[in-house]
Amino acid sequence: MSQLNELTTRLRNASAVTVLTGAGVSAASGIPTFRGAGGLWRNFSATELATPEAFARDPQTVWEWYAWRREQILGCDPNAAHRVLARWTQTRPGWRVVTQNVDDLHVRAGTRGLVRLHGSIFELRCWRSCRGERFVWRDERVPLPEMPPRCPDCGGLARPAVVWFGEMLDPRDLETAAALTPCDVFIAAGTSAVVYPAAGLLHEARAQGAFTAELNTEVTDATRDVDAAVQGPVEQTLAALDKLL
Ligand code: OAD
Repeated sequence: MSQLNELTTRLRNASAVTVLTGAGVSAASGIPTFRGAGGLWRNFSATELATPEAFARDPQTVWEWYAWRREQILGCDPNAAHRVLARWTQTRPGWRVVTQNVDDLHVRAGTRGLVRLHGSIFELRCWRSCRGERFVWRDERVPLPEMPPRCPDCGGLARPAVVWFGEMLDPRDLETAAALTPCDVFIAAGTSAVVYPAAGLLHEARAQGAFTAELNTEVTDATRDVDAAVQGPVEQTLAALDKLL
């Protein structure tokens, strides 16, 4: 049986399905991934743009990079991968999406019960956490009227409410995601599966007996560990799976 057929059969019989998504899911929408050909971390330094130390050193440069990405993302629309996953969460109780993406395309596609592990590029929070670390606000304005933007409460610097390298994930999000690892089928879709703790969810699911699958255009660190690895553009694979179900 082909890996796609085997995955289809498993999905047909599954009540709990968890899909972990990464940048590859938004690639067909025109949003660059981080690693691999044309990836953002090939042309930009993660340590100079996506760490608290970088922001403390040079908030203007960090904000300019995020403003550029916000503008790029706002011009992109959800693709077939987002649409199929959204429909699954709307029509199949127990089918859930956990994303590492900060682009909000799963939200715009109408995904129910989405877990966003790395935050949203369209949310901001106070750099000094004047109202606590969890207080975020939404600002979709492109361009932002003030650069760098300010906290409306204390007037200090605002920062993107995304998780940077060296920062902890919100423990509530991680707990919710971990609670979705005891499932029938766990799919890693369009992620290089190298950034933890997100990448660890696949291994947790496998250890708990889930059938595991990977949908990716390339071979990743996870490929040899999964039960089914379907190579190809995830938007095509998900559309094909959706038809087969
Ligand atoms: P990566 O850029 O590391 O990986 C994207 C994956 O998608 C790669 O394995 C590609 O082969 C695959 N890919 C690209 N186009 C695809 C397509 N059309 N169909 C299927 N697969 C495709 O992105 P992530 O795994 O999401 O962190 O990266 C994880 C985290 O690292 C991100 O959330 C970000 C980054 O630094 C933060 O921002 C905190």
